[in-house]
Amino acid sequence: MKGKNCLIFGGSGQIGRHLIRKLTQNDYRVIVVTRNIHQRGHIIKTQGNAGYIDVVEANIFDEVKIKSLFERADICINLVGILYEKKRSSFKNIHTLFPSVLAKLCKKNNFKHFIHLSALGINDATDSHYAKSKLDGEKEILRNFSLSTILRPSVVYSVDDNFTTNFMTLLNRLPVFPLYYNGQTNFMPIHSSDLVDIIFNIISKNIYSQIIECVGPETLSFKEIIEKLLHLIEKRRILLPIPLFFGKLTAKFFQLFPKPLLTEDQLRLLKYDNISSGKYKTNADIGFPAKCLFEKEVEKYCYMWKQGGEYSKKNVS
Ligand SMILES: NC(=O)c1ccc[n+]([C@@H]2O[C@H](COP(=O)([O-])OP(=O)(O)OC[C@H]3O[C@@H](n4cnc5c(N)ncnc54)[C@H](OP(=O)(O)O)[C@@H]3O)[C@@H](O)[C@H]2O)c1
Repeated sequence: MKGKNCLIFGGSGQIGRHLIRKLTQNDYRVIVVTRNIHQRGHIIKTQGNAGYIDVVEANIFDEVKIKSLFERADICINLVGILYEKKRSSFKNIHTLFPSVLAKLCKKNNFKHFIHLSALGINDATDSHYAKSKLDGEKEILRNFSLSTILRPSVVYSVDDNFTTNFMTLLNRLPVFPLYYNGQTNFMPIHSSDLVDIIFNIISKNIYSQIIECVGPETLSFKEIIEKLLHLIEKRRILLPIPLFFGKLTAKFFQLFPKPLLTEDQLRLLKYDNISSGKYKTNADIGFPAKCLFEKEVEKYCYMWKQGGEYSKKNVS
């Protein structure tokens, strides 16, 4: 079936799982590449009916293996991304070199479309290594394959995220919650299902816009997000503005953890608003405005962080 075979990198993550469901429900076949089939295979395989998903274990820098996968598809989707660096997984390798390799392979194999997930606000955050590597990756892609669409989402949330769920866990455990930059940084959170609808429409309707900013319907400051989460889990906590020098010290300490709570680079990134810039088209401009409202969606899965756990569940539609 020409034009219905997607090669997906990073498909076991939050966005990938939702995307695999959407694509396979709509008769797309997917080849999903993962680093560890034993850990991730079941997560990927359970997102679609048998026959629609092929899971392949590969190191993303194993060019011979990756090249051979390009013979079996005509659309490539890159969802691989990291928030902090580790040994060989540097921002440059993951966000710049890898997308560049994919774009070149798309060109060589006459692919119909390359969809790449970048991030919102990376033009402004010039002092963040994360932002710079994402921006360099975009440039490499646009230089190497013209049939590319780059999506820049604001923060993405859902029951499978590392954002609302981690914050609700921390808010449950800590009596005092730190606010960096007074909690004034603005976001336009987008629900994973809205983002996946955008990606699906871009693929199925062959929309080749070079950069699209993907944002939700509301602008919320970090403090407002935390207050909404506290309201949803029915907890009261002290929200404490942290002076920047102390924030830097805590980030220095937290980034020593195997899975850092906060790094110095993330702290720098948090200084910049994560909202549409007005310089690029948004999902609304191309006809796919996001519909999900933050509080209404999180209400559907926040009950596990409330007193009473699953017994505090309300019927929310
Ligand atoms: N979630 C957000 O709020 C958000 C916001 C803006 C932009 N984005 C971008 O959107 C994309 C997808 O986001 P997501 O939240 O779905 O990502 P995710 O869940 O954090 O990770 C996606 C997948 O990337 C693969 N991966 C992670 N580290 C890797 C490494 N060192 N080497 C090779 N593969 C690695 C993993 O797949 P395997 O373990 O199966 O190999 C993982 O499941 C990313 O590029 C991210 O930067 C996300």
